[in-house]
Amino acid sequence: MHPMRTHTCGELRSEHVGEEVVLKGWVDTRRDLGGVIFLDLRDRYGLTQVVCSPQDEKEAYERADLVRNEYVISVRGTVGERTQETINPKLPTGEVEVRVRDLIVLNSSEPVPFAVSAHEEKRRAAGEDLRLRYRYLDLRRPELQDILVLRHKTCQAVRRYFDGNGFVEVETPVLMKSTPEGARDYLVPSRVHPGQFYALPQSPQTYKQILMISGLDRYFQIVKCFRDEDLRADRQPEFTQIDVEMSFPDEEQIYTTFEGLMQAIWKEVKGIDLPAPFPRLTWREAIERFGSDKPDLRFGMEIQDVSDVFKGSGFRVFDRILENDGRIVAIVAKGEGDRARGRMDRLDKDIVRRKIGVGGLIYFKLPSDGSEMYSSVKEHVIAREHVDACIKAVGAKDGDLVLVLAGPDPDVFLHMGKLRLHMANETGLIPAHGERWDFVWVTEFPLLERDADAKRFTAMHHPFTAPHPDDEAALDVTPEKVRARAYDMALNGMELGGGSIRIHSREMQHRMFRLLGIDEEEAERRFGFLLDAFRYGAPPHGGIAFGLDRIVMALAGTHNIRDVIAFPKTQSAQELMVRSPDTVDTKQLEALHIEIVAEDEDPE
Ligand code: AMO
Repeated sequence: MHPMRTHTCGELRSEHVGEEVVLKGWVDTRRDLGGVIFLDLRDRYGLTQVVCSPQDEKEAYERADLVRNEYVISVRGTVGERTQETINPKLPTGEVEVRVRDLIVLNSSEPVPFAVSAHEEKRRAAGEDLRLRYRYLDLRRPELQDILVLRHKTCQAVRRYFDGNGFVEVETPVLMKSTPEGARDYLVPSRVHPGQFYALPQSPQTYKQILMISGLDRYFQIVKCFRDEDLRADRQPEFTQIDVEMSFPDEEQIYTTFEGLMQAIWKEVKGIDLPAPFPRLTWREAIERFGSDKPDLRFGMEIQDVSDVFKGSGFRVFDRILENDGRIVAIVAKGEGDRARGRMDRLDKDIVRRKIGVGGLIYFKLPSDGSEMYSSVKEHVIAREHVDACIKAVGAKDGDLVLVLAGPDPDVFLHMGKLRLHMANETGLIPAHGERWDFVWVTEFPLLERDADAKRFTAMHHPFTAPHPDDEAALDVTPEKVRARAYDMALNGMELGGGSIRIHSREMQHRMFRLLGIDEEEAERRFGFLLDAFRYGAPPHGGIAFGLDRIVMALAGTHNIRDVIAFPKTQSAQELMVRSPDTVDTKQLEALHIEIVAEDEDPE
């Protein structure tokens, strides 16, 4: 047996020259240079070059001759200085090498399905599915290990911050009851109670409110949440929230507390001092100026409302939209006024129609040489004076491109928001990772939104969110106009977190349920415990939850949420390494009183 390692593979420097050391790790690369074998030995801490020469130790050399990539070995040898020409300035250990006296193979490896070398140039692109199937190999890549370490550091910073501010970490059940966060639940059948199911938490929302009623005052938890919803680049079916609740807060206290959290994380993980307070936009401002409730403030190209300019233009489409309280909006793409017709057609067809899903893009090109403006609508359709007035109103200059959309409010803003992001991406307006950290609070969200078939209201945040006190009277008259005491934090166009000041009276909670079409009986059945708790002295309370995965994505500069999760799920919610979900034994199903019915079979 070899002795314990004396150093990691990232530790040795020139000051160690002459020392006898023991290193253990994976063979990252193996080169045979005229009878001398060079191995790069890899572990989480780095790479160290080890050299086996037949002159030094014949036996060790012979063993080295047999090792292959990803073998796990232990070497004993002396730290030597590399010659000037062989120093590798890219490696922290690049000035030294270990001259091996003794080498043993701790484990061999079959040829790996894809190269996992720490040397970027030695890796071949491997499909994500293959990487996820062999996630243990994928996770040997230093980039992924670095992200896991970054995630760990983020969690430590979060815990330190909350601990220092009097928050108590409390665990809440994973087997619980349905929570109304708007997604489908993951259900777990009960063996003991035939026909009954637990739901996995979409968030610990109701529990954290109960903890405030219990007098915990300040709660936080780094907690897994589960939502069966369509997956996107920043969504996973199971993800992690930094979940928080406070008693007796107002919005100002919430804002400063969580600006402080972000400052603590960014300082500890990145060494960056974030300026605070963060800018704030009401939901309405965010929609009107940026076409999004998670506005990207890293660049301008703000949306401008040009409805007034086109009033009375005689263009039937515009007139009709304006008559129905719709809006006409524009953005200016600076320096894009010379775009060829073909590119404009593709923008219209591939982006506006296909991706954003609306028709009717109108544009005005102002060539950079000052020549005649080009309008995508003929002059007999929209008179020149209206076009000129629009160009003037939006401040477009020679060389600029004006893009115009018309439609119902607020949809037209949301569509233009997407076009704004597309244009910014295409024209390189979005700064590289790490250049800007544009945090923003979005406040005063609407309390309610009409659901898809417009038949009823759903809560825009969740049903426990308090209405704005100035709007309470409007609750029964114009509920769609009522603002909520809800807020989101966004960073560089990504929603990091959201929360609200909560309802804490039984009457108001009942009123809210009624607005949402939840009758008394259903309210009692689903949320009776909370309504009951409200009878016994519930303090005013409020809180927020952040997506930990998304915070780590921002810190790591990745757009793929799977990069920040050790064992993530695919777009189709599968975990390819252990292969879940999976079928189970009939016996297990029987114990759970469950029968599987084939899709084409009639369950009756
Ligand atoms: P909300 O539903 O806005 O609020 O979620 C809070 C934050 O959690 C993250 N998030 C997700 N991250 C990855 N994958 C997902 N599928 C996913 N869904 C949400 C987002 C989001 O901003 N109980 C309330 C919070 C509160 O009111 O205190 C809640 O869950 O970053």
